Amino acid sequence: MRTALLRSLGCMCLIILAVSVGLAAEGALGSRSYDDYEKPQACASCHVDIYQQWTQSMMSQAYTHHWDEIEYFELAVKHAEVDPDFDPVQKGCNGCHTPLAYLAGDVPPPRPEEGSRANESVSCEVCHTITGRHGDRSYNFNWISEPGPIKYGNKEGAVSPHHETQLSEFIQTAEFCGTCHNEENPYGMMVKSTQLEWAAGPYAAEGVPCHRCHMPQAQGRSAKMAPESMVSQHLFHGAHDPGKVGGSVELRMHPEERELLYDDTVVLKVQLFNAKAGHKIPTGSVEDRIVWLHVTATDSEGKTWHLPVDPKGFEGEHWTIASDELAYQDLGIALGDPSFAGLPRDGVPVGDRIFRMPYLDPEGRMTIQQWYTKSFGPDYRIGPRETKIETFSWELPDDLAVGEVTFRAVLNYKRLVQPVADFLKVPADEPETIVINTASTWVEVYE
Ligand code: HEC
Ligand code: HEC
Ligand code: HEC
Ligand code: HEC
Ligand code: HEC
Repeated sequence: MRTALLRSLGCMCLIILAVSVGLAAEGALGSRSYDDYEKPQACASCHVDIYQQWTQSMMSQAYTHHWDEIEYFELAVKHAEVDPDFDPVQKGCNGCHTPLAYLAGDVPPPRPEEGSRANESVSCEVCHTITGRHGDRSYNFNWISEPGPIKYGNKEGAVSPHHETQLSEFIQTAEFCGTCHNEENPYGMMVKSTQLEWAAGPYAAEGVPCHRCHMPQAQGRSAKMAPESMVSQHLFHGAHDPGKVGGSVELRMHPEERELLYDDTVVLKVQLFNAKAGHKIPTGSVEDRIVWLHVTATDSEGKTWHLPVDPKGFEGEHWTIASDELAYQDLGIALGDPSFAGLPRDGVPVGDRIFRMPYLDPEGRMTIQQWYTKSFGPDYRIGPRETKIETFSWELPDDLAVGEVTFRAVLNYKRLVQPVADFLKVPADEPETIVINTASTWVEVYE
């Protein structure tokens, strides 16, 4: 009886702990030392090509990349200093961005400029020592790491002069990626859910894991002395590769009527088809990203107008139509300015359609601080193989020249909303605009 009570109390404490800090692998903190793991350079001498691919991917920069450094040190660490409830969150960032530092209990780690081993970010050893996960769902770095001579991989009986090898089913699954690509915050919100989006979509049903799009296989050698075979490339290309983002959504546009009188209203339909991604667009750091549709009209004399999207009338739609209202007031907590007025929410032309899911702070204001997100607005992203249709009704203006009027639609992507990037002095390459796709059509306007 007493043991049962204690056991259930213990169990409750664990649940409360897990919920209050949002961490699934807290026991891992400080459980290892850096010396338990080899440096990536130790793998480079044989895995020459894989090493070079990895150094160019975001995996090798997950701790050192400028925007990660700014958000971690200027916002997350500062927020935890103001409100110690967020200290486990601040430590937890490292569980995904520099797992060895987390395992070594080296949190916050030294700044990137100090050149410590935290800079290894998501290294070879991080992924190739993972043997499984805690619990029955993947989130919050709940992988299990067993460093040592065995490197876990996707091939049976691979022979290496440097280490032992072992085939792992787990490493080949989307759930492996999900240990870092799903994130639950202290409010119980799934602030990253790429693997869950994938699991609910057509690619999971067809047995196509993340690897087939982000680690495509090609003929070659995985190590200098290895036999030729199909090798999983270590590209991990995503938001930082314009070639990956480009074309991911296909765009078509047509008018309801091709011939109109000068006082008519043009009705345009734009179809957006997520043809290329195995999850929603945008996914991952949804709080930072902005995807927006900009439509313009040009008359026969070259005069140009901007067309705002027709509202559909769903709840919370105002978050998905660009405006110049202020948001991000919660940045004031970390910056020591609780009455911070905020920044323009979108930084894109007012009236454009935005494909997003807004992250809202405890006061219902839009935030880029995923750890401080208490609710979401409507999920108006484009699901895998989903098609969305947007309508643009445009009453022909008085000063329009008759003749052919052409329309152009551009779907844009930015990794970070511009006003936030400007305010936090994030280098310009992070908020660069990537054109996902364009479409055009025309109508003939008569007197
Ligand atoms: C002295 C050369 C050498 C070094 C150094 C080396 N490896 Fe290997 N590794 C190999 C060879 C050879 C294979 C077998 C490849 C094959 O047959 O396809 C291999 C295979 C692997 C595999 C695939 C295992 C499987 O079962 O699919 C992984 C994972 C791996 N190495 C990781 C690492 C990591 C991580 C490091 C650095 C800590 C490293 N290797 C260092 C030579 C090396
Ligand atoms: C140990 C944690 C961890 C695991 C496991 C992991 N990732 Fe990541 N991944 C990250 C982090 C952290 C980033 C963010 C890097 C940054 O700071 O921009 C990232 C970024 C990415 C990106 C985006 C790159 C970009 O250009 O923005 C892709 C794509 C990606 N991972 C794919 C995968 C796939 C596929 C798997 C499974 C095979 C996987 N990841 C497993 C931690 C992980
Ligand atoms: C984000 C996790 C991650 C990181 C970082 C990573 N790998 Fe891998 N690696 C994988 C996964 C997953 C596979 C299995 C791919 C599959 O199932 O298609 C793999 C496969 C391999 C293989 C076998 C490839 C084959 O098809 O024969 C080798 C060798 C390897 N990795 C070495 C390395 C080395 C060396 C590094 C560092 C330079 C590294 N990996 C970094 C996740 C990772
Ligand atoms: C059918 C191919 C496909 C599959 C399967 C797939 N992805 Fe992607 N992924 C893409 C494409 C295309 C993009 C670029 C467009 C975008 O940003 O969504 C992308 C982008 C990403 C990004 C960057 C998103 C951003 O905006 O920051 C991450 C992270 C990512 N994928 C991780 C994963 C993980 C993890 C899985 C498995 C759970 C996965 N992907 C499965 C095709 C795929
Ligand atoms: C559960 C794992 C996980 C945790 C915990 C986590 N992240 Fe991330 N983070 C990721 C992954 C995966 C990505 C890449 C998603 C994408 O490309 O869209 C990412 C992306 C980012 C980015 C955007 C990088 C870019 O270049 O666009 C920043 C900044 C960031 N994280 C900071 C943080 C901070 C600060 C914390 C702690 C408050 C944190 N992360 C906690 C996994 C995690």
